[in-house]
Amino acid sequence: MTTHSQAITLAWTGASGAPYGLRLLECLLASNHTVYLLISSAARVVLATEHGLQLSSQPQAAQQQLVKQFNCDPSKLIVCGKEEWFSPVASGSAAPKKMVVCPCSAGSVAAIAHGMSDNLIERAADVVLKERGQLLLVVRETPFSTLHLENMHKLSQMGVTIMPAAPGFYHQPKSIDDLVDFMVARILDHLGIEQGLVPRWGYDQR
Ligand SMILES: Cc1cc2nc3c(=O)[nH]c(=O)nc-3n(C[C@H](O)[C@H](O)[C@H](O)COP(=O)(O)O)c2cc1C
Repeated sequence: MTTHSQAITLAWTGASGAPYGLRLLECLLASNHTVYLLISSAARVVLATEHGLQLSSQPQAAQQQLVKQFNCDPSKLIVCGKEEWFSPVASGSAAPKKMVVCPCSAGSVAAIAHGMSDNLIERAADVVLKERGQLLLVVRETPFSTLHLENMHKLSQMGVTIMPAAPGFYHQPKSIDDLVDFMVARILDHLGIEQGLVPRWGYDQR
């Protein structure tokens, strides 16, 4: 896998929680990471439904939309198509060591747990698994079926971090943004990226 420690793969899939994915992307770009962004077809439907964002299905056009929205350096955001098999994320020789699927659908959990590699999101996750990198799944579904739980258990045993999109309330959130930031802060913590989005338990509350 690439030694370029400032690169990360972020996948948006079709679970509810588009604001988590958008905010995470914003924070990764702000922390000067190069982001390989993979977007499933269902994720685009969810983005439109939950956020009113009509993202193009063409990777380059989607990249331009997001670069404009986040006012970021275009070279730092690479949007990849779902069958872009020559993307760096598709090979252990070039893929970033870290990947987050946020939000992560139960369907993508199943596909990743079974090594399907049928689209670039599944392939990128499979690469991170085989290369023993860091894979973090921000899963959103409720309730979980036994099948969902079995798939997550399987992945957890392989070292995958299963991080349900389940924000806490002990920081007394005043807005949806506060709840989103709670989750994004935990994700950034796990990735080892400095953040000051929410007060830390036992420190900042005193
Ligand atoms: C608005 C909307 C919300 C959805 N919410 C969820 C969800 O929270 N969790 C989930 O597992 N699937 C959810 N789905 C269904 C998935 O999008 C669907 O299973 C899809 O095939 C997942 O494909 P993907 O993993 O390739 O994105 C939702 C679909 C839509 C349109």
